[in-house]
Amino acid sequence: MSNYPLAFAAISLAALPLARAQTPAAPASPAAVAATLRADTPGPVVNRHIYGQFAEHLGRGIYEGVWVGPDSPIPNTRGIRNDVVAALKALDIPVLRWPGGCFADEYHWKDGIGPREKRPATINRHWGGVVENNHFGTHEFMDLVEQLGADAYISGNVGSGTVQEMMEWVEYLTSGADSSIANLRRQNGRDEPWRVPYFGVGNESWGCGGTMRPEYYADLYRRYYTFIDKSYDPAHPLYRIACGANGGNLAWTEVLMSTAGRLMNGLSLHYYTLPTGNWGAKGSATEFGEDQWFAVLRRTLEMDAIITQHAAIMDKTDPAKRVGLVVDEWGTWYDVEPGTEPGFLYQQNTLRDAIAAALNLHIFQRHADRIVMANIAQMVNVLQAMILTDKEKMLRTPTYWVFEMLKVHQGGTSLPVELQSPDYVFGDRKIPAISASATRAAGGTVYLSLVNTSPREPFTIAVTMAGVTRASVAGRVLTAGAMNAHNTFDLTRRTRSCRRGSTALH
Ligand code: AHR
Repeated sequence: MSNYPLAFAAISLAALPLARAQTPAAPASPAAVAATLRADTPGPVVNRHIYGQFAEHLGRGIYEGVWVGPDSPIPNTRGIRNDVVAALKALDIPVLRWPGGCFADEYHWKDGIGPREKRPATINRHWGGVVENNHFGTHEFMDLVEQLGADAYISGNVGSGTVQEMMEWVEYLTSGADSSIANLRRQNGRDEPWRVPYFGVGNESWGCGGTMRPEYYADLYRRYYTFIDKSYDPAHPLYRIACGANGGNLAWTEVLMSTAGRLMNGLSLHYYTLPTGNWGAKGSATEFGEDQWFAVLRRTLEMDAIITQHAAIMDKTDPAKRVGLVVDEWGTWYDVEPGTEPGFLYQQNTLRDAIAAALNLHIFQRHADRIVMANIAQMVNVLQAMILTDKEKMLRTPTYWVFEMLKVHQGGTSLPVELQSPDYVFGDRKIPAISASATRAAGGTVYLSLVNTSPREPFTIAVTMAGVTRASVAGRVLTAGAMNAHNTFDLTRRTRSCRRGSTALH
């Protein structure tokens, strides 16, 4: 809330959105909804890593978006652009996943160390077939997370790599020994081992990571686990994350948990929201009517049932909830912006994405007992991004502002919110019009975030605070005059911007 004119208060209400324009006029007096925030019956802590990010070697996600090189006219620190880092630091990013995605299972980490001019040029087969010069590698990534103040989550190569390669990467990153591999790191300019808390064993091994059956991957996981078992930093043992399911593939989770559950710390889950549900024609990021507004929010809300189902399977073999569910890819996925390379997955980001992001974050907070991390796909220039760049220009998307507003929930204690939501009806389907989530921060401040999914109907929400003694309240609103409002590089189009109060969100 740093640059918002209201002072901090005991209770902060953040409401998203009250978008009414472009659709039939809103009723004269908004419907009243009663809610009770139960600060007297706290739930589990919301792991701050739920607000995690993901950056893959994909399109302009790394190159241009983050890495411009030390000789670039774009202001940078050791090759990493300053404007992007400054904007991301304001989000208090807890964790960053890298280098993929699908790219992770074709990435050989030794290509990305040593003098940059000597690094090999390889082909990024998955994403446009472009040449990867490997200028952004292990040292550059660890520099980025250190500049951001985030934890590193490295995704290792199972699909086309070897056990030895992964084992040596962990040693290179985390060993303080006088070994050849650790000394190679020193020769390359880094004396001290890095702290790498999270390590993923393969990505989408059921698909781009190797088209494996769950039984086969579970055995492979057991093998890899054995050799990356040791962290060289005893104070910080590696949190090993096995490749989990795609959406509602419950059979994958059944096999993984029963065969390898006791050997993993975390199990991943991927779920993307497509307006149409059709990968061949997903729908536009900016040109849509209320049908696709509604479809995106309805499909986003399916995340709740998907998590519930996977968590129930995990409960069977892990009732103590020792294994964390890691939703390390989520977000909206549209047809690419017209005229851009299809393999670069570049899409605009509107008020609809802001609502979808907030709904997802609320769902993760509701499942705080099992979800230890989530990583939106992806941080810059790819899919549902925080930031878009156009060479030296940069803009913050509506999704960025949701992460900025809701970051106050990071690490808070979840507080139930009792609410009978009215329905948002479209055609013969309906979803809840209101989503609410609350936490109490360590300092005692209670934060409540509210989402209105209806582009037509505003609501007045009267909140009773059970267990809250002080009553000073401050609030922020993110909204816009159109469902497809978005920020552009051309500031003259300010009227289409997503707005916070009267301030355009650039
Ligand atoms: O985020 C884009 C891609 O989506 C990732 O590379 C892959 O893991 C998923 O299919």
